[in-house]
Amino acid sequence: MTALVTGGAGFIGSALVRGLLADGIPVVVVDALTYAGSRSSLGEYAEDARLTFCVADIRDTPTMAELLVRHRPATIYHLAAESHVDRSIESPDAFVTTNVLGTASLLQAALAHWRGLRGDDHARFRFVHVSTDEVFGDLDDDAPPFTPDSPYAPSSPYAASKAGADHLVRAWHRTYGLPTVVSNCSNNYGPYQVPEKLVPLTILNALDGRPLPVYGSGRNIRDWIWVEDHVAALRLAAAAGRVGATYLVGARSQRRNIDLVNTICGILDRLAPAPAPHAGLIRMVADRPGHDRRYAIDPALAESELGWRATVDLEAGLERTVAWYRDNRAWCEASRARLARARAATAPA
Ligand SMILES: NC(=O)c1ccc[n+]([C@@H]2O[C@H](COP(=O)([O-])OP(=O)(O)OC[C@H]3O[C@@H](n4cnc5c(N)ncnc54)[C@H](O)[C@@H]3O)[C@@H](O)[C@H]2O)c1
Repeated sequence: MTALVTGGAGFIGSALVRGLLADGIPVVVVDALTYAGSRSSLGEYAEDARLTFCVADIRDTPTMAELLVRHRPATIYHLAAESHVDRSIESPDAFVTTNVLGTASLLQAALAHWRGLRGDDHARFRFVHVSTDEVFGDLDDDAPPFTPDSPYAPSSPYAASKAGADHLVRAWHRTYGLPTVVSNCSNNYGPYQVPEKLVPLTILNALDGRPLPVYGSGRNIRDWIWVEDHVAALRLAAAAGRVGATYLVGARSQRRNIDLVNTICGILDRLAPAPAPHAGLIRMVADRPGHDRRYAIDPALAESELGWRATVDLEAGLERTVAWYRDNRAWCEASRARLARARAATAPA
């Protein structure tokens, strides 16, 4: 039954861990606790008796191997990654070492573990690799959405490192037979996301009356999904996914960035009224280099093969998200402090 979740102290990983523990499944979290990870993101499950929390780096293959021998997981959900595109442009090294080499390290340890399993344990083991739609590059406004057959054309160092990881996972399946399932998901939003990403940054800056930066013209389009809908797809991929398959996960919720930020401002005007409308804080800023124009996901295969459906509509999910950040300022301030320390550590002397 045991699930091992790399990156289980991050945004999506912690949502997955909370869901697994809520269903009584023993979980081993493997997380290096970078600025993006915190045990506090497990909320009420942080001290759950079924949780084993290991502070470890996926690039450390002997430790990964030892953890797999000790805990004998039935499923590995691999989410640990450097995940912020802007950081990957400023300093790509950690993206290459964690996302590419770290994935190779984990695959080596997982292969040895799987080969050592017998009978049903061997047959049921799955390695679920969590990736992004950004590996496919960008789409014109009128182009059809990405499908599992879309060619890889990553733009940023982040997307390229995730693409490299995806290729390694496929190779470990094709060459060694490791039972893998890959998921490429669109932009997630929800509680416990580090406030350097668009949704929490916008909410927290607006609550503080600070400027709301939007890149370029604001016309870049992203396809948004409630984080727990993504987590549900990952669990179905582990339970019912075809070995070797790739599933694209998205909620058919494309929005221009400027429209998303305006929607958040409208929700804030209702849930946390300020003397003036929050949209007055929006500031257009110089565009990100290599900024992809549009991402859009066709989730038809995940829907037909996994029986998965997105359940939370974007406006309703954003309202829940705004309320969560408004009501959980202690977590937000601790996350901001970790971010500030990480920025200070990498700032030029
Ligand atoms: N956030 C999204 O919208 C989105 C969309 C699609 C796919 N993904 C993918 O989902 C996964 C999780 O994304 P997220 O948004 O939760 O990221 P996150 O940055 O919030 O969390 C990443 C976690 O990985 C840990 N980590 C980083 N380097 C590590 C290392 N070397 N060893 C062990 N742990 C390490 C961090 O401490 C953190 O807890 C990533 O693989 C990401 O590429 C994210």
